[in-house]
Amino acid sequence: MKTLYFTATGNSLAVAKKIGGETISIAQAIRNNQYEFEDNVIGLVFPTYCCYPPKIIRDFIERAKLKADYLFAVATYGNAMGKGGDGSEMLAFDKITKAAGYHFNYLNAILMVDNFIDNFDINKEVEKISSKKIDESLAAVIGDINQRKDYVKDPGTFGKIITRMCKGLVKSQDTGLSAQKFIISDACNGCGTCAKVCPYKNITMKDGGPQFGTNCLSCYGCIHNCPQTAIHKKGEKSGKRWRNHNVSLKEIIDANNQC
Ligand SMILES: Cc1cc2nc3c(=O)[nH]c(=O)nc-3n(C[C@H](O)[C@H](O)[C@H](O)COP(=O)(O)O)c2cc1C
Repeated sequence: MKTLYFTATGNSLAVAKKIGGETISIAQAIRNNQYEFEDNVIGLVFPTYCCYPPKIIRDFIERAKLKADYLFAVATYGNAMGKGGDGSEMLAFDKITKAAGYHFNYLNAILMVDNFIDNFDINKEVEKISSKKIDESLAAVIGDINQRKDYVKDPGTFGKIITRMCKGLVKSQDTGLSAQKFIISDACNGCGTCAKVCPYKNITMKDGGPQFGTNCLSCYGCIHNCPQTAIHKKGEKSGKRWRNHNVSLKEIIDANNQC
């Protein structure tokens, strides 16, 4: 089994590690121009951005050649937006993968900590961890995959409406300009961690601090993984940052580093 993942703050990597098999970073696969994968089982694990799979996943799927008897994808997400609203990212994923000629046997989503600081305070998100029953959901997903279950999570009518409403936000994210709203505080000591966790090589270190380019994925990896908490987003709801407790900074750097 091969489990391909993208992560910015560790939730998706924590899930990929638990699912098991050979875990492969999609950011590094792209860097190495590696798009062909073959195994009896291949899976993708990734976060949800505005009810859609991240651009890095959408672009990867368009170029990838995945050969497997059983294909699965698991999205991680932070907040169910209403009854049946979760799993909405799988609508787009289903469409994209079908257009690319794939039949994914299993599409599911796991509710985790929401790292979208525009809307959510990480302190409150951390308090919600036990009520989200993450371990239980993950165990159920792993059981399904081990049994090679066929299943596509239905986001329900509300989820479908929300997904349609999010289209504009996704378009705006896809411009690559999100980092224009990032602010660097005096706490920055020029360590360069932000550049190393950026999957799109959008950050260069200049004059002892980061400079953002015009190809931002909006993953917030730089914001959450800055050891000095020196990167902020205009209007953020939280000064606290998140990295999944089962994932180290080194693992995120190894997964995303393009320097
Ligand atoms: C730009 C952005 C948009 C997001 N949009 C959604 C969303 O539409 N729905 C949701 O439930 N979570 C959303 N999230 C939260 C992440 O999907 C969630 O925290 C995910 O588990 C992070 O995965 P990672 O730790 O592997 O990077 C968003 C996060 C970011 C940074």
